[in-house]
Amino acid sequence: MPLVDLDKFDFLYAGRVRGMKSAVTRDLMATLSRPGIISLAGGFPDTRAFGEEAFREISDSVATESAQALQYGPTGGLEKIKDVIVEVMAAEGTPANQEEVFTTTGAQQALDLVARVFLDEGDAVLCEGPTYAGALNAFAAYRPRVLHVPMDRAGMIPVAAREALARARKQGIHTKFIYTVPNFQNPTGVTMAAERRRELLEIAREFDLVIVEDNPYGMLRFEGEALPTLSALEQEDGDVDRVIYLGTFSKIFAPGVRLGWVHAQPGILHKINVGKQGADLCSSNLSQMMVSSFFQNADWHAYVERLTNIYRERQRAMLDSLAEFMPKEVHWTHPEGGLFVWATLPSYLDATAMLPRAIAKNVAYVPGEGFYAGGEGKNCMRLNFSFVEPEKIRRGIELLSEVIRDRMALRGDLERGSRQGSRQAARGARSGARSDG
Ligand SMILES: Cc1ncc(COP(=O)(O)O)c(C=O)c1O
Repeated sequence: MPLVDLDKFDFLYAGRVRGMKSAVTRDLMATLSRPGIISLAGGFPDTRAFGEEAFREISDSVATESAQALQYGPTGGLEKIKDVIVEVMAAEGTPANQEEVFTTTGAQQALDLVARVFLDEGDAVLCEGPTYAGALNAFAAYRPRVLHVPMDRAGMIPVAAREALARARKQGIHTKFIYTVPNFQNPTGVTMAAERRRELLEIAREFDLVIVEDNPYGMLRFEGEALPTLSALEQEDGDVDRVIYLGTFSKIFAPGVRLGWVHAQPGILHKINVGKQGADLCSSNLSQMMVSSFFQNADWHAYVERLTNIYRERQRAMLDSLAEFMPKEVHWTHPEGGLFVWATLPSYLDATAMLPRAIAKNVAYVPGEGFYAGGEGKNCMRLNFSFVEPEKIRRGIELLSEVIRDRMALRGDLERGSRQGSRQAARGARSGARSDG
């Protein structure tokens, strides 16, 4: 559709549309599926690992209850999916019971519902800098201020979080929640240290706000010890209170079922329930039944382990090839799990401007800018390793390093050129001064 037709109704669109922007990966979807392109851009789990046979089995099991599968269901989800959610949370070390869980259409819907329930225009949300672009997108519809807190290798920096919250309070801005992806964060792959999780809970209590803990990747750990979720830590203190925990089947099963969940205290779940009634009535019964059938009858732990093994090998391929090919000025994270590595280029490089050159060379990534509300992160990029085979990852990183080296060489040439130019100008000025004298 020509853009002109879209613009024609500019005067009719709601003000909130101005804050909403399309994600680069969504826009690039068609380009990235072009044959020959090595896409390190998407956040796709490898659904090929599931296999036709296993899929047929769960489809057959649902066929015996076709009437229910094709029917509307309760807004908060079927009993059997809630049982599965409780089991998955327990496997992650987070106690939960049926009354505290609520099924959503992916964690993405949960992000929208949480924002809908908590945010008035001008309220603030505190989140990591950078953070998940899809969350920024979901929040943007409610027109909040996004306060990014810098991170280091141990996650969001608590002192900086406190400062940002205190500053906002002084300015009369109401911060409603802290949004965090504590495990193998999208986009950086960074995991928040255990003591920081405790401190974040303290901060939430101190400033009287809630924490949205978005945890799609916690179970995809390649090395090291699993850390307690913020929700588990809060429960250790005897509460289900301030932590709104978001989970999803997208990364431990498949994103195609579009199923996620919220674990929170009943008051919050009630508001979320009302919000969801207006959004989609209920999540798909068909999906819920397929997922429950698999989790109840198959060895889902073994499946998650299989996925983890695949991703571990690919991550190794990515880290090894980054070390082999990238110029020494480029730095990257070393995640212990998840799907992403975050690379930082020299500050004068612009990863957004560089993307068309990379695509012309048949490799793609996501520029860092989209993971900030205010356009920082220009010299950064997110690299995904879950979807592409190791040999292709290696080739992709090699191609990408060529593009980066090209850009760096160009900058070197320009700098030399301008130094030469200014030397010539200085010589000219000196000789001019002499002849003037
Ligand atoms: C941090 C984070 N939260 C939420 C989502 C959305 O997941 P879902 O497929 O469950 O909607 C994603 C998807 O990549 C994600 O990375």
